[in-house]
Order: sequence, then C-alpha cells, then structure tokens
Amino acid sequence: MHPIFASDGAPAIPIWFTTTDNLTDIAGKLDAVVFAKAAGFQAKPSQSLLLPGKNGELAAVLFGLDKDGDPDSNPFLPGRLTGIVPAGTYRFANAPHDARLATLAFALGTYEFARYRKANGKTLRLVPPAGVDAGELSAIIDGVTLARDLINTPSNDMGPAELEAAARKLAKAHRAKIAVTSGAKLARNFPLVNAVGQGSARTPRLIDLTWGNPKHPKVTLVGKGVCFDTGGLDIKNDAGMLNMKKDMGGAATALALAHMLMTRKIPLRLRVIIPAVENSISGTSFRPRDIYRSRKGISVEIGNTDAEGRLVLADALALADEEKPELIIDFATLTGAARVALGPDLPPFFTDDDRLAAELMESGARENDPLWRLPLWRPYDAMLESKVADTNNVGGGLGGAIIAALFLRKFVGNAKAWLHLDIFAWTPSAKPGRPEGGECMSARALYAMLVKKYG
Ligand code: BES
Ligand code: MN
Ligand code: ZN
Repeated sequence: MHPIFASDGAPAIPIWFTTTDNLTDIAGKLDAVVFAKAAGFQAKPSQSLLLPGKNGELAAVLFGLDKDGDPDSNPFLPGRLTGIVPAGTYRFANAPHDARLATLAFALGTYEFARYRKANGKTLRLVPPAGVDAGELSAIIDGVTLARDLINTPSNDMGPAELEAAARKLAKAHRAKIAVTSGAKLARNFPLVNAVGQGSARTPRLIDLTWGNPKHPKVTLVGKGVCFDTGGLDIKNDAGMLNMKKDMGGAATALALAHMLMTRKIPLRLRVIIPAVENSISGTSFRPRDIYRSRKGISVEIGNTDAEGRLVLADALALADEEKPELIIDFATLTGAARVALGPDLPPFFTDDDRLAAELMESGARENDPLWRLPLWRPYDAMLESKVADTNNVGGGLGGAIIAALFLRKFVGNAKAWLHLDIFAWTPSAKPGRPEGGECMSARALYAMLVKKYG
C-alpha cells in the first residue's frame, strides 16, 4: 500500500466537494453559511475554504468543483488540494465526480523530487474513499513515481549504467529475468544502438527484461533510453538541449507500466526492451552520412545524428518483433514535431490497428491520461528514401512525427499489432495532480487498456 493511504477509520479531516448547486446544503450542515459568505467562498472550481472548529482546529475543508456533468470538468481538479491543505490525514466527506481519479490526483499531486535537497516536509494522508481499490491505485502511483524519479534525475546520475541498475532493481522486485548486452556483442547484434552510443564514455547497452508465464499472451514494451541527447555531431542549441535529461522518458514509462502490470500480476508474458545510450560528442561519435546495417538487415544512412531515438528503437523493435508477439508498444520522446502538432500534454500515438486505437482512446479518456491518434501516412514513406542505403533516418521537411513513426514501422512486421507513442515525458508548468517536471504519460491509459483486454 502506498504511504499516502491512511487506514480506514483513522481520524481524518473531512473534505467537502462543493458546487454552486450544493453549497447552501453543505455549508448549512457544517454551520458555516455565514463564515463561507464572509470569506467570499462561492464554490467556484478550485476555490477552497478551511473551516475552523470550536477550539480553533482545522475542522473541515470546502473545495469547489465544476457542476456535475460539465463536459469541460477536470477530474484531476482535487489534485489542487495538496497545495492548499496543511499536513494531516484527510477523507472525502462526499463523493467528487470521480472518486478514483480524485484520489489518484491527490496522491500524484503530493509528488516531490527531493533527491538533491530537503523535502518540503508536509505529510499528507488520505483515507481511501469507499469503492476505490487502494491496492490497485498504489501500484499505479508507485509506477508513476518511479517514472518521474528516473526522468527528473539529472544525466550525471542517470546514465546507461544507472538506467540498467533501475531495470535490474525492478526485475529483482518482481522476480523477472533480465539480460543486458554490451561491448562487442552489442556492436554485432545491435549495430544502431552501438552507433548512437559509441561517442560516449558511458557505454551503450541493450536491456531485456522478461516476466510471466510463457503461455500467456506476449506483450512487449520498448522504451527509448537516451540518457542525454546532445544531438550528437548535429549538435542541439542551448534551448533544445536544456531538458534532454528526459530523453530516457520512454524507458522510464515502459518500466512504470511494467511495474503496474507485474504488481497486479496481470496474466501476460511481459517483456521490456530498453536500448540505453548517451548521444554525445567525441572523436568516436557516429557521423552524418555514416551507413550502418541494422539488426534487421536494413541499411540506414544517417541524415542527422539528432534523429538518434529512432535508430536505437529500430534495433530494439526488430528484436521485439522476432518472437512474433501479440502486441508491441514503444514509448519515446521521439520528435519535437509531435509537440508542434499537439502541444506538451497530448501525446500522439500511431498504429494500423483501428480496434486497438479505439480502445486506447477510450482508456485514455477514462483514466484522464489523454492521447491522440496520428496516421501512419504511407505516402510520406518516400521522404525517407536514401540514394545509397535502404533508408535514411530522416525525411526532408514537415510531418516529422509521422515520418519518425514510418521509419520505426520498417522494423516491425511479425507482431500481431504495434503501437508507437511519441511522448513528451514532461510537465512544463504544474497542473492539478501533475507537478512541474518529469511526467509519466500514457502508462495509466495503457495499463487500463491491457487490464481490460487481458486482465
Ligand atoms: N529527443 C529528441 C526529440 C525531442 C525534443 C522530444 C524535444 C521532446 C522534446 C529527438 O532525439 C530529436 O532530436 N529529434 C529531432 C529529429 C530531427 C533531427 C529529424 C527533432 O525532433 O528535432
Ligand atoms: Mn535527438
Ligand atoms: Zn532524442
């Protein structure tokens, strides 16, 4: 159980969810009609009021919500409470619009990255509302926290070796098998992973974790583990490079989702493949116009060393594809173009499977972990043509997120279905339940989808 959850029956300060419709009712019950009026509390969304008791103690909290059924209402709004209420143990006195998502937002809103300085020291606890499965939520919260911690950890403490250590720790906790390939074997079996990582003193590697009954449906997660992306010789500018510690956000998300699925023992044969590299600049870096033969045998001309994510994913996807799994899902902070198209909060996903796409849209909406489908638009394949190799790693012009997805598609063919997610892995400015910094995007949506499909 996550430490945020207080045991049922613990003394707890009630939080009342109010709307303009029920304010008079609730304030009346609490003898607070006059006080609420004097304090200007009108139950507007996010408005809050702390009510004193007879001895000056904090007796109750009022928190405003949108009207029930408002299509624009944010189910994570109660996440705001973590910044409003003082340390203590709380309970929901009445039901918010979605008690499960409100609980989740409250828990996720308490996250703080305190590895390098003292934590704020405010301990919040919540009695799980009736009907909410605190055990399942704990698995989800722990997964999200793991991803945020990995992403927020700066690259000096989160290189390929540290990412490997994180995967090993997860494997150990769930008794999963783990194999790591590096050195000459990596160069031989995963030439593109090796090429991207060869410029760094922190050596590249391929992490391969498996868990579960081999007879169960095979679902394989692939996560981009670029522990820092300088752009390579096609170096990024200062603004472009600033946040590139998060370029292993795909790997972090894959590990987070794996944690959720393994903790809940979902009957899958789960596999997580992470190419872990640092894209750095040195005399041994790979270069523009280099040509490498990929694991799959496709020769790739390097048009731009900053399009490194698709290269490491190509070999990882080829490996995943070899055992013909039911489903391959890859996560990657792959393109700036995805952000241009949909902004930071709405990751695009790509698949040829319409049913799967509909299922994912539905779980994303239900879990408040939204996603949006973009097309694998075949005519753009022509943009990836090379004059000297089977393919280039970049296309000429616009449509970068689609072109990157089409590049990846070349390396998948045996899996029954494939899903590619181009995630941002970062919250640029805090929102309820979503503190600023590293973020675990799409894992909750996929967890819900996979539980529904296979659970
Ligand atoms: N990691 C970046 C993409 C990225 C940048 C994601 C900023 C999120 C925020 C990726 O490796 C990259 O550099 N992509 C290039 C591709 C281009 C060279 C074709 C990009 O998007 O500019
Ligand atoms: Mn790059
Ligand atoms: Zn990158």
